[in-house]
Amino acid sequence: MQLLDGKSCSEKIRQEIAKEVAEIKSNGDRAPHLAAVLVGNDGASQNYVAFKVKDCDEVGFNSTVIRMEETATEQNLLEKIAELNSNDKIDGFIVQLPLPSHIDEDKVILAIDPKKDVDGFCPENVGNMSLGLPTFLSATPNGIMELFRRYSIETDGKHCVVLGRSNIVGTPMSILMSRNTNPGNATVTIAHSRTKGLQELCLSADILIVAIGKTEFVTADMVKEGAVVIDVGQTRVPDSTKKNGFRNVGDVDFDNVKDKCSYITYVTGGVGPMTRASLLQNTLKAHQRR
Ligand code: GUN
Repeated sequence: MQLLDGKSCSEKIRQEIAKEVAEIKSNGDRAPHLAAVLVGNDGASQNYVAFKVKDCDEVGFNSTVIRMEETATEQNLLEKIAELNSNDKIDGFIVQLPLPSHIDEDKVILAIDPKKDVDGFCPENVGNMSLGLPTFLSATPNGIMELFRRYSIETDGKHCVVLGRSNIVGTPMSILMSRNTNPGNATVTIAHSRTKGLQELCLSADILIVAIGKTEFVTADMVKEGAVVIDVGQTRVPDSTKKNGFRNVGDVDFDNVKDKCSYITYVTGGVGPMTRASLLQNTLKAHQRR
């Protein structure tokens, strides 16, 4: 079994980006600028945004965090998005999800200018991805593709089972893996809460990508010997032995699954850092396209 080390892979990507930023600055251009909108006080979201700012600092990007109260209205947020869309000093921005339940996430995503949608969530960018056209690829699926690329994991002709069909992970992941690219060219099955015979299906997977948000859902009896297992899950579980009172748990029962795998990611040093690295890559691309 080999660990897929997203932490060190993302470190290399940040170094590559930092070099490009140094070149941009030495040519007299301003640095790429990422903005993040954070609505409310969700602890995990605050943490994710703080990491994104730290990543920007590390590569030499400018960054701005726009904090809005939990009680902010949908209209308040749409007005903020309109401002960011027209601000020439900002190359790309994200609205951290999930949003408070009184705000319609679809409406918010539709309001983002696709040229600044560095999350790759807008219909235009998802459509371009589906057709293999240049675009901002959704950060988490692209981060996983980058892991396959950097570890030279063979995906061609393999059976890839994607557990979960969310707009931000499962659906775009299934599209990227099925396209005629390398990595890609896999035979993809997308499974979800209504799928029958899930254990058998997972046992037939050469590559199992798990993004269902249920802690330790995938157990050893669901994994084929030699499979590649990618764990996208990250749920905070109370833990009084930890300083901050919680630990992050994935969707895969790592301790019991790992010895069956050829490759496996671990929480939190696997997919999470690669998602953040993809966001930096997209922001650099937005700056270049300006
Ligand atoms: N919440 C969880 N993952 C993501 C992500 O990739 N982008 C945004 N905007 N919110 C998220």
